[in-house]
Amino acid sequence: MKRIIYISTVNRHMTEEEIDGIGQVSARNNREVGITGVLISVHDYFFQVLEGDEDAIAKVIERIRRDPRHRDLHILKAETEIAERHFPKWSMRTIRLAGSGDLILQAIRDMLQNIAESHRIIERYTQPSVLQFLTEGINPLSVPPRKTEKIVLFCDMVGFSYLSDLFPVEQVADVVNAFLEVCSITIAEHGGVVAKYVGDCAIAYFEQGQADEAIAACLEVLRRVRDMRGKTHDCHLMKFLYCGFGVAAGTVIEGNFGSSVKMDYTVLGGTVNMAARLEALTREIGKPLALSESVVQGVRQQWPFVHAGDFQLKGAGRSCPVYSLDDPLLGDFKAHADLVGEMRQACGVLGVGQDV
Ligand SMILES: Cc1cc2nc3c(=O)[nH]c(=O)nc-3n(C[C@H](O)[C@H](O)[C@H](O)COP(=O)(O)O)c2cc1C
Repeated sequence: MKRIIYISTVNRHMTEEEIDGIGQVSARNNREVGITGVLISVHDYFFQVLEGDEDAIAKVIERIRRDPRHRDLHILKAETEIAERHFPKWSMRTIRLAGSGDLILQAIRDMLQNIAESHRIIERYTQPSVLQFLTEGINPLSVPPRKTEKIVLFCDMVGFSYLSDLFPVEQVADVVNAFLEVCSITIAEHGGVVAKYVGDCAIAYFEQGQADEAIAACLEVLRRVRDMRGKTHDCHLMKFLYCGFGVAAGTVIEGNFGSSVKMDYTVLGGTVNMAARLEALTREIGKPLALSESVVQGVRQQWPFVHAGDFQLKGAGRSCPVYSLDDPLLGDFKAHADLVGEMRQACGVLGVGQDV
């Protein structure tokens, strides 16, 4: 048996009748599938406990997630293999706390508001894979490391260290955040997982067999970044936002790596190093995308691959063929020197941020 506790935010003001209506439908449906629990409505928040058979809980939570009457559903706790129900007699008891003048209820309302706010913040700092474990009721720290096959993707901004010294710090922060946002959203849309950020670099992975999705994600980021540059005025760091991608496929070790102070659930190993080196190689081949042979061999679709050369990649032990794509989106790549020239032309002779 499973128990899930979640909190969510109402999308619009709901009348007492509407909330009672949700309670009635819930109680009726839950009774049929043996789910019990409690639904508390507090000001703008719902707090719900659902307990029952794992499959039944999975189905109902899927329906509840899609319900347009609320949003930002955060699972606070998921427990599997529970022996006893907390609410064996309530198929879904619904309690409305909003509007009550009682100070204790006010305190509960404040507490739930704080929990929702804290979770929203913590989720933004947490890796999606860790959240996934928590949602499934698995303690991520208990997950043992494993060898697995992945497609690893590195992407970062060209000339970032140089440019970041020249532009105002707020602009640098805005552009890095905008870049990481585009990378992360696009990678997730294509089925990948962002493992971590290292400065302006995003490290992500896809499952074996998703080589086409990984390449498509890179092209889509390039398109979105080009659009962002196009919408920017001449002397803004965004105008000089160009990026490079390295993609390699192979064996990685997936698991918890870190210390008692900070832990990452991430991937390590030769394939990860290879993706990092391919990303660095984009400057040398003059194209924003460098793919390993294993990626090229793993695609199902037809891609206009071009052989960018054979390179001695550190750690690979042999000269490796590196591939890119013959695609117009890859045409406007700027290497560091070109970028500096273009920037000087647009912004004048620069030395420090204040001059920009
Ligand atoms: C905060 C909230 C909690 C809900 N809880 C449940 C629930 O426990 N069980 C349930 O069947 N539906 C619940 N619903 C309603 C579902 O989202 C969905 O509208 C309903 O299950 C559809 O049922 P019907 O097909 O019988 O109309 C909840 C909705 C909201 C907004």
